[in-house]
Amino acid sequence: MGIPSWVNDIKEEYLSRAKTIISDNLSLQVEEGMLTEQGKQQAESLMTFTTDLHEAVQDADFIIEAIPEVIELKWQLYQNLAETAKPEAIIASNTSTFPISRLAEKTSLAERMMITHFFNPAHLVPLVEIVKHEQTKPEVVETTLELIRTIGKSPVLLKKEINGFIANRLQTALVREAFYLLNEGIASAEDIDTAVTAGPGFRWAFTGPIEVADFGGLDTWERVIDNVAPDLDKSVEAPAIIRDRVKEHKLGTKSGEGIFHYDKTSVVQKLNERDRHFIQLGKIKNREEV
Ligand SMILES: NC(=O)c1ccc[n+]([C@@H]2O[C@H](COP(=O)([O-])OP(=O)(O)OC[C@H]3O[C@@H](n4cnc5c(N)ncnc54)[C@H](O)[C@@H]3O)[C@@H](O)[C@H]2O)c1
Repeated sequence: MGIPSWVNDIKEEYLSRAKTIISDNLSLQVEEGMLTEQGKQQAESLMTFTTDLHEAVQDADFIIEAIPEVIELKWQLYQNLAETAKPEAIIASNTSTFPISRLAEKTSLAERMMITHFFNPAHLVPLVEIVKHEQTKPEVVETTLELIRTIGKSPVLLKKEINGFIANRLQTALVREAFYLLNEGIASAEDIDTAVTAGPGFRWAFTGPIEVADFGGLDTWERVIDNVAPDLDKSVEAPAIIRDRVKEHKLGTKSGEGIFHYDKTSVVQKLNERDRHFIQLGKIKNREEV
């Protein structure tokens, strides 16, 4: 049971940090009854951590690149993979922003290249967006979809490339409007967040926006969009509220202040609470799919 995996990074300290994070994440899943202690040990025994790229990829059938979003670094790694990986190995990228045509530009790997964009926190959120190159072989696409389903995730396949894929485009549209409402003084930051988590966000875990439109009635949604869309924010860059805080190094939880204030303990607690909620939601979704 399970799939043997190799984890590669450039320094031992990064690998040991990754090992600790993975172990902590699995422990939380054990606490929440999503996994047994034995399951955790088995998962850990299937992972090998190495700084040696050749050792990591030489026997791999499927490779997921998740290095920084710097195109030259990615091209260099693909060149190394072309030399070290098996000629039939599938090369997938976790890129959030690069079109697959750009990733494949300087490689001979297009026929076996894919984007598999995991949504964070990747160990808990089911979505994986899949993008293929126009030269990607159909069997490579099929194997990728099958693998993503086998590991318990929900793949969606894009029919063509587009900046931001699907989820980040939808999310950006909503976040832009949330900051517009905040900037205009329409409601507090807390109330804007509640309007999403207690309203549309509550429905969206099970009913997507297109089905929501069908449930509401397309005649109603025709009027809603015609009436509201002209007043929506149409900015093409990040709002001043975000830019100003970034200049002051108020970056959110990682710096202790963003829109809200945080201390170290509250961030750890909040992350833990968030992950427990996601695990509970995941359990309900899994039950639905059985
Ligand atoms: N952070 C997110 O929320 C998120 C979500 C989805 C997708 N992504 C995508 O995942 C990728 C990684 O993003 P991140 O935020 O985790 O970046 P990061 O900089 O936090 O981590 C990248 C890791 O890659 C390692 N690395 C660098 N060069 C390497 C090489 N040649 N070989 C092996 N390892 C190498 C680094 O040491 C580091 O540990 C990017 O393509 C990003 O767009 C990020």
